[in-house]
Amino acid sequence: MHALLYRSRARPGLLASDLNDIIATAQAHNPTIGVTGLLLYGELSAIPGAPGEFVQWIEGPEDAVEALYARIENDPRHSEPSVLARGPVAELQKGSGLRLVSDRLFSSWSMGLVRLSELPATRSGFLGFAREWDEESLPAAA
Ligand SMILES: Cc1cc2nc3c(=O)[nH]c(=O)nc-3n(C[C@H](O)[C@H](O)[C@H](O)COP(=O)(O)O)c2cc1C
Repeated sequence: MHALLYRSRARPGLLASDLNDIIATAQAHNPTIGVTGLLLYGELSAIPGAPGEFVQWIEGPEDAVEALYARIENDPRHSEPSVLARGPVAELQKGSGLRLVSDRLFSSWSMGLVRLSELPATRSGFLGFAREWDEESLPAAA
């Protein structure tokens, strides 16, 4: 199982409806190509009108992940995509403390969306965020 993590700048003026469109497309398309993942969107709320940023983790069969990224990177709704990590999921997540389910980190998300005020900008930062988020979304231990 292969994964790719990248960051990019959202197009200035991106609307909530654009985000909804992106997620709707992803949730319809990704299951047909065996891809799961997580999309983070951040906007510094202290600065009105500041452009948002994306960080996205895409995982699945290598060909599917790379072909999808080739489409995504040309999407005019963002710019300056920069790959933070790509390779086998098992390698990329080493030491993260995340649970690997069927060789994936986000096996139940065709593409989840999380909005944050500040985005992680590195692989380890992303994995640290994902681990906290994963723990919060787990039912409390009895
Ligand atoms: C930040 C961002 C993330 C995206 N993530 C996905 C995704 O996970 N899956 C997907 O099918 N499209 C995603 N898209 C949309 C694709 O770029 C593209 O618009 C979509 O796949 C439709 O492609 P088509 O117009 O060639 O059919 C994303 C777009 C952006 C801007």
